[in-house]
Amino acid sequence: MKRTHTCGELSAKHLGESTTLCGWVDTVRDHGGIIFIDLRDRYGITQVVCDPDDSAAATEIAKSTRSEYVLQVKGSVRARPADMVNKRLSTGEIEVVGTEVTVLNTSRTPPFPLDDEKAAKVHEELRLESRYLDLRRPAMQRGLIVRHKMAIAVRKYMDSLDFVEVETPILTKSTPEGARDYLVPNRVTPGTFYALPQAPQQYKQLLMVGGMDRYFQLARCFRDEDLRADRQPEFTQIDVEMSFVDAEDLYGVVDGLLASVMECSGHPRPELPLPRMSWHEAMERFGSDKPDLRFGWELQDLGDVFANTDFKVFGKVLQGGGVIKAINCKGLAGVPIRQIDEWTELAKTHGMGGLAFIRVQEDGTWKSPIVKFFSETEIEALRDKLEIEVGDLVLFAAESAKNVNPFLGKLRLEGAHLAGIVPADAFKFTWVTEFPLFEETDGGRLVSMHHPFTSPLPEDVALLETDPGKARAVAYDIVLNGVELGSGSIRIHDPVLQGKMFDLLRVSAEEKESRFGHLLKALAYGAPPHGGIALGFDRLALLMAGGKTIRDVIAFPKNHKGIDLMMDAPSTVDGKQLHDVHIQLDLPPELED
Ligand code: AMO
Ligand code: AMP
Repeated sequence: MKRTHTCGELSAKHLGESTTLCGWVDTVRDHGGIIFIDLRDRYGITQVVCDPDDSAAATEIAKSTRSEYVLQVKGSVRARPADMVNKRLSTGEIEVVGTEVTVLNTSRTPPFPLDDEKAAKVHEELRLESRYLDLRRPAMQRGLIVRHKMAIAVRKYMDSLDFVEVETPILTKSTPEGARDYLVPNRVTPGTFYALPQAPQQYKQLLMVGGMDRYFQLARCFRDEDLRADRQPEFTQIDVEMSFVDAEDLYGVVDGLLASVMECSGHPRPELPLPRMSWHEAMERFGSDKPDLRFGWELQDLGDVFANTDFKVFGKVLQGGGVIKAINCKGLAGVPIRQIDEWTELAKTHGMGGLAFIRVQEDGTWKSPIVKFFSETEIEALRDKLEIEVGDLVLFAAESAKNVNPFLGKLRLEGAHLAGIVPADAFKFTWVTEFPLFEETDGGRLVSMHHPFTSPLPEDVALLETDPGKARAVAYDIVLNGVELGSGSIRIHDPVLQGKMFDLLRVSAEEKESRFGHLLKALAYGAPPHGGIALGFDRLALLMAGGKTIRDVIAFPKNHKGIDLMMDAPSTVDGKQLHDVHIQLDLPPELED
């Protein structure tokens, strides 16, 4: 046997036993000829002591080792002196007296320290280049283990509710989830391409037509889009679809799923059912369709306060059908003026003439460029409504609700982070329901807010004829701490209504046939009413495990440019490979070699 115990296993109950450990040299120290090695593996760290009095040969070898050498150590377990006990280590009460040390492999000096605290300060690109080294760090391993536990919990929970995990193709056809497709050339029929799935959306609906009733999958999705901290070009979804359900049934399933996920990753079970609010309410109160409910600072409508105001800027906005809203950033009265200038610039990009504010000074007086225009009644009403106190910074925005809400929503978040009032260890879920069915582009075209298979709210179907832009959908997001975790809807199962949706989205008859013909045909063969959701598994893992970006919970992620720095992918391929798939490159001259 190469080892009898792991490096996280030995404790006072093993005193006197002989042991064989294998692991990496975390640190090695020479104390007057006695060599101390912290030996590390996935399970923990054990202190090995090599003393020439116990074994001269072992000590000689131990002395020659460096960080990240791979060792096998034979020896016996003894208690550490009382003043040397390390309470932070599970093995902190013992040490192993090394009597035989074998170097299983040497190591070059790592390009960065494999210590969680020090590695956090190293440029991420450097860590990504040698990901296999970065993965040796306890924090990285913890992230992957939490992710694994979550996957097990998801499968167990879904299985207990009769969901069947079905794999769907990776080589498929373009699916409209709003990003660009990754294409794969088809050697057999020149000029044709597979697309990698942006999500298994159509397959899961077709599984419902196929009578599977309850489907789930830990599904890999591929999207060529601008990357951010919470986006990867390939990522994983907990993909779910159910037949004969309404939204209520889905909320129930997902509530329980999230409770299991919280529990398996060491967090308290949230109280169920998880709270809900409509999209409209989320936008009005928090200025966001993914509200962070870990703190207050809600948007307050001041239409009543300023109904008869003499302040021209506000009066004009109200007359024009706009809104006046404000947030009270508690304790931020002292922000530097350049912060307010920055926010004022942001206000301008959101269609506002400026950003009005009040800073409440130590002596209780209000420092503000606009208060002089307010009447006594308005001031009192403001104080009441916004609960204004010493130290507060009140920020006002006056314009259309469409511009004001998202703008104040952004300030609310930025301000709260600036004030340091967002609790890092709180978990605040909410469903956001009844999303609009469509978004209007600048050119006045309707595009699906979710995707074109989303069912309108039954009471809004008539609006499709008269005012489709106002129609709401049976579409919902699940949000945690201001992060959109998942998104879903009840689908259209009626081919006539689905056809109508494509018409409203101005999908041409030809495109309808070539891209969605199979789905429309399937709906015509007795498709059951169905609905589903997909939860971003990487985002969920990040929130459960803690970390900065979803890259922290993905073993081999890509950087912000979509590059795998370790494998050096994507890369060029040789001419023969291109020829085989009938591709000729047409590169700009500067890229030709
Ligand atoms: P949607 O496109 O909203 O819905 O995706 C669902 C969830 O997947 C996660 N997600 C991502 N995570 C990491 N990197 C990305 N690039 C990325 N893009 C999305 C998010 C998001 O909430 N088929 C529909 C679902 C349905 O209607 O059932 C879909 O894919 O957490
Ligand atoms: P003005 O009379 O244009 O100088 O504006 C008076 C104050 O109102 C200034 O502090 C502006 O920044 C602010 N202001 C102007 N337009 C808006 C708006 N749309 N919303 C909020 N504040 C505004």
